[in-house]
Amino acid sequence: MADPVDFGFERVSPDEKTRRVRGVFDSVASRYDLMNDLMSGGLHRLWKRYAVGVAAVREGARVLDLAGGTGDLARLFAKAVGATGRVVLTDINHAMLAEGRDKLLDAGLAPGIAQCDAEALPFPDRSFDVVSIGFGLRNVTRKENALAEMRRVLAPGGAALILEFSRVAPALASAYDWYSFNVLPKLGRLVAGDEASYRYLAESIRMHPDQETLKAMMERAGFDSVEYHNLTAGVVALHVGRVY
Ligand SMILES: C[S@@+](CC[C@H](N)C(=O)[O-])C[C@H]1O[C@@H](n2cnc3c(N)ncnc32)[C@H](O)[C@@H]1O
Repeated sequence: MADPVDFGFERVSPDEKTRRVRGVFDSVASRYDLMNDLMSGGLHRLWKRYAVGVAAVREGARVLDLAGGTGDLARLFAKAVGATGRVVLTDINHAMLAEGRDKLLDAGLAPGIAQCDAEALPFPDRSFDVVSIGFGLRNVTRKENALAEMRRVLAPGGAALILEFSRVAPALASAYDWYSFNVLPKLGRLVAGDEASYRYLAESIRMHPDQETLKAMMERAGFDSVEYHNLTAGVVALHVGRVY
């Protein structure tokens, strides 16, 4: 039998995690953007802008956004690569992807769309200049598989960007814990009608590899010059790995 993996603070089979993560995002899809703004006080928009700024994509670049959900990163990338570039928005979850597709179409953008698992990408080797995953890797069942796939589809000179919750500075840890375990689930219940999914969010953040551990995982996956940028005192970290 396959080794158990984390689903929040629980240990479950890989299939069970995949199934329960799907349940989380089926449940929250229609309220996902509103919840992000409320939970982060709008900060998630700045974190995403920062990530796209660090990517420094050229006009005409090919960008793949994994676990792209409601499309915030894809929208920013689409503006950066211009009419000659290509952005592909992907996600394993149909409900989240449908929200993203509609939002981007409403904004006058027409990215490629693909429903796919970050662990098994339906794209050829070396076919993108940038691969991003925003607040997605934490939810992926076998993170090593997703990292290997990100490395595989990047062209030489390309960059992978992983934007994810990380380990907060110790001085903020107790206030952050209180907020995460008391406020977030209640907000989830009031706004999205789903307390459990937002408890999973808080738990999954605690179980996700910290900055240095994720950096080492990216190096093991074959990325060069891996670095990370702490944002908001480490509430979030942006990891960048290159392919030479
Ligand atoms: C917290 S949302 C992030 C959405 C968006 N990237 C953002 O930053 O707002 C996490 C997304 O990861 C997706 N996801 C989870 N496991 C995945 C996998 N194995 N492959 C692709 N997407 C996955 C979920 O469906 C969900 O849309």
